[in-house]
Amino acid sequence: MKKTVLYPIAATILASLSSCSVDQDTAPTIELSAEKISSRLATFGDQPLESLMASTEAMEVGQLLFGSNCASCHQADGTGRMGVPDLTDQHWLFEGTAESIEQTIRTGRIGLMPEFGSVIGEVELGLLVSYVEYLGETGAEMSTGEQSGKVLYDLHCVDCHAADGTGIANLGPNLTDDYWQWGGNMIQIRQSITVGRNAQCPAHGGLLSDAEVQLLTAYTLGLSS
Ligand code: HEC
Ligand code: HEC
Repeated sequence: MKKTVLYPIAATILASLSSCSVDQDTAPTIELSAEKISSRLATFGDQPLESLMASTEAMEVGQLLFGSNCASCHQADGTGRMGVPDLTDQHWLFEGTAESIEQTIRTGRIGLMPEFGSVIGEVELGLLVSYVEYLGETGAEMSTGEQSGKVLYDLHCVDCHAADGTGIANLGPNLTDDYWQWGGNMIQIRQSITVGRNAQCPAHGGLLSDAEVQLLTAYTLGLSS
């Protein structure tokens, strides 16, 4: 058998594939020598994102970098899991632009939803949950319970989720669509409101070179296009 020298990140991918929940089928293992990776990084570093996204060779290195830095949370195929956003769809907590993605990679992100369990009583919580569910129903008539829920929503939630529930970029996600970072059934919505939610994307600025950040930005952008 021909001996391949694995770059450390490739070795990490192999280790994580064998040990945890990362889906092997969706992420074919790429083996590249350290030499090949560094020579590719040197040529790709200063290229615009569009040409990186169009280059199979660049995206192979991007996939390796994603596998070793991001897949432990976002999954190898980028579809995420409970609490970790799907990067392959068009729903963005922050913006889906290259600038926003690069900023996420460099400095990380913190999503902080305060807990209301100690502020709001059980009955009010129920009313709020039904109003949040109502937000996703287009054109439906509001029940009395939902109307009371709206009063509470206008008091406690509009600053971050907007008056119509469609969210405010960087402050609070859209509550009217069918995408739920923390699950969209009654119990999960109630849980989000009662205990709050706190999700973090760690900063990678100090861990990756500029060329690696550029490649990962291109690769992540490509996941949703
Ligand atoms: C420790 C787990 C973890 C790791 C590792 C991680 N992320 Fe994240 N990422 C998250 C979580 C959780 C969020 C959501 C943060 C929030 O809710 O504010 C997130 C958010 C994001 C977003 C914003 C998505 C949106 O909807 O706006 C992008 C883009 C992203 N991550 C890319 C990456 C990339 C690229 C890497 C690898 C360099 C990475 N993440 C590594 C957990 C992680
Ligand atoms: C200070 C801003 C802020 C306020 C006020 C706030 N939220 Fe949130 N909310 C957030 C953020 C940020 C998230 C996403 C947390 C994360 O990234 O993990 C969130 C998440 C949620 C979720 C989960 C969404 C999902 O996709 O799973 C629900 C439901 C929710 N909020 C409802 C409410 C309700 C109802 C109120 C009022 C009682 C409220 N929020 C008040 C910022 C806020």
